[in-house]
Amino acid sequence: MTVLERSRLPLPLLRRGKVREVYEVDAEHLLLVASDRVSAFDIVMRESVPHKGAVLTQLSAFWFERLADVVPSHYVTADADRIVARVPALAASREQLAGRAMLVRRTAPVAFECVVRGYLSGSAWAEYQRQGTLAGEPLPPGLVESGRLPEPVFSPATKAESGHDENVPPSAVARALGSAVTAELRDRSFAVYAAGREHAERRGIIIADTKFEFGFDAAGTLRLIDELLTPDSSRFWPADRYQAGGPQPSFDKQPLRDYLALLRTEGRWSGDAPPPPLPPAVVEATSVRYLEAYRRLTGRDLDR
Ligand SMILES: Nc1ncnc2c1ncn2[C@@H]1O[C@H](COP(=O)(O)OP(=O)(O)O)[C@@H](O)[C@H]1O
Ligand SMILES: [Mg+2]
Repeated sequence: MTVLERSRLPLPLLRRGKVREVYEVDAEHLLLVASDRVSAFDIVMRESVPHKGAVLTQLSAFWFERLADVVPSHYVTADADRIVARVPALAASREQLAGRAMLVRRTAPVAFECVVRGYLSGSAWAEYQRQGTLAGEPLPPGLVESGRLPEPVFSPATKAESGHDENVPPSAVARALGSAVTAELRDRSFAVYAAGREHAERRGIIIADTKFEFGFDAAGTLRLIDELLTPDSSRFWPADRYQAGGPQPSFDKQPLRDYLALLRTEGRWSGDAPPPPLPPAVVEATSVRYLEAYRRLTGRDLDR
């Protein structure tokens, strides 16, 4: 499989995200294509990471299939042959689709990201340190960084066009969407997180937190959309190295983060765009980690 920095398909391009392109297939379907671009500290690197896009797509497909009984989703297929059969215009672009494209049902996306946190990290740890709360709700005193929360917490965020998403209390979601929809988002998010975390734990990966997106289909059904329980939408920690009381290594991006942190301490990179060039060994080590996350979680090798 060739490395793909960006896809170019003969379909209307609706959006190019940091990592994925979204194409319009027809009124009811979209095609999501995960490139091999990688971002760290919210900056997209110049180098692409081999197999990363395929890991994101095939891992999402694994979870959508596995968790189909837990929650309805937008997933149709990630099989390139089936996609081409459904969308003949893509016949000449099969190479760009293989392993990394997903045909999905189009929805009207809910304007909030549904974050579930099982461990205290990142912006949640910052909020707790500041005021003893998470998503505005008090937590017991004495919790430590990366500590496991007594119960997972629903901590929604607005979808920011650029920069960091902003955490908002569930009451803000309820004001915008009503309390019934908010409760449904929360309950579904908890159910998917619980099932995913339980599976991952048995495979040696802690899913510390994760972000879900939902949308309403034409019939008004709430469906899980976007990517699901991937390294890009979640914090994956290696369980065998877990130690509460400080930051944890990331299962997938740690080689990249370590290298960038080194450049910063040495004053060789400011931390802002443009990104510094990455040595091939750093790119390779990151690729290996993504493949390993896939292998551990699914129990099989990536289709490549
Ligand atoms: N089934 C769907 N229906 C409508 N929009 C979707 C669906 N699945 C994903 N999306 C949207 O696709 C977009 C992906 O873009 P983005 O998140 O910016 O990409 P990236 O994750 O690469 O940064 C998101 O805005 C997401 O809400
Ligand atoms: Mg996204």
